[in-house]
Amino acid sequence: MKTNIAIIGSGNLGIAIAKGLVNSQLVPDAAQGLGVRISIHNKEAVAISDIIILCVQPKQLEEVLTEIKPLLQEEKHLLVSTITGISIDEISAQLDNKKIPIVRAVPNTAIAIGTSMTCLCHKHANEAQVASIVRLFNCLGETLLIEERLMKAATVLAASGIAFFMRYLRAATQAGIQLGFDAKEAQHIAVQTAKGAALLLQTSDSHPESEIDKVTTPEGCTIAGLNEMEHQGLSSALIKGILTSFEKINSIRK
Ligand SMILES: NC(=O)c1ccc[n+]([C@@H]2O[C@H](COP(=O)([O-])OP(=O)(O)OC[C@H]3O[C@@H](n4cnc5c(N)ncnc54)[C@H](OP(=O)(O)O)[C@@H]3O)[C@@H](O)[C@H]2O)c1
Repeated sequence: MKTNIAIIGSGNLGIAIAKGLVNSQLVPDAAQGLGVRISIHNKEAVAISDIIILCVQPKQLEEVLTEIKPLLQEEKHLLVSTITGISIDEISAQLDNKKIPIVRAVPNTAIAIGTSMTCLCHKHANEAQVASIVRLFNCLGETLLIEERLMKAATVLAASGIAFFMRYLRAATQAGIQLGFDAKEAQHIAVQTAKGAALLLQTSDSHPESEIDKVTTPEGCTIAGLNEMEHQGLSSALIKGILTSFEKINSIRK
């Protein structure tokens, strides 16, 4: 059965999701220029769609929900909110507590290249509806269904996480330049090495420490560097940084 998807909000995330869907198998006609329509009318988009993906800023949400509320039908529509920090109950309340199926999604910017880690939770959605949203986001990377109480933790770990890994890559690149590579070469080496480390874990049941054991020979250079990083507080700084982000996200209101 054909499903129409409306994306409301064509900023960074909305465009990234649209691009990802066009590049995926989910929008079969997109390559022929069919299957994708752009409209400045939210109501029109909602009226012809089954899945509505909200990609506006938190402060813009109320206006959008007020506009589309009269058109939303419990039996027809499935609402997907990507909006950080707004709970399903808060969205439902703005929809006069209609039992519209709602899925909350926390993706990250790698969604633009189909490599997002997207955490999902839901309310009032049936199994088939949840499966359809998992399928949709699986075309844009990987997904994990979680409890709603963990959505802020997911935001810090996966969405902010992009920035944390970028900072590691930048630092490794800077070290590489000091050791004699030019900036491009150093970044190439750092990025491919990080990708390899991630894939080693992703493609096996391995644990980071057992992969570390494989490259730390007794009295060798790797263990010397690694221990120095730990003396300087590497693991502790990372954990504290993530926890600080989490404290901050809990203190932010719309
Ligand atoms: N970027 C990420 O990686 C990421 C990750 C996870 C979650 N999120 C969440 O995703 C949401 C969108 O983030 P973003 O970075 O894509 O923001 P953004 O670039 O500011 O995009 C928001 C878009 O919504 C449009 N918009 C505003 N009011 C609208 C309305 N009434 N009807 C239709 N469209 C409207 C804006 O248009 P104008 O510019 O004309 O106002 C803009 O194009 C946020 O709530 C954010 O918390 C983002």
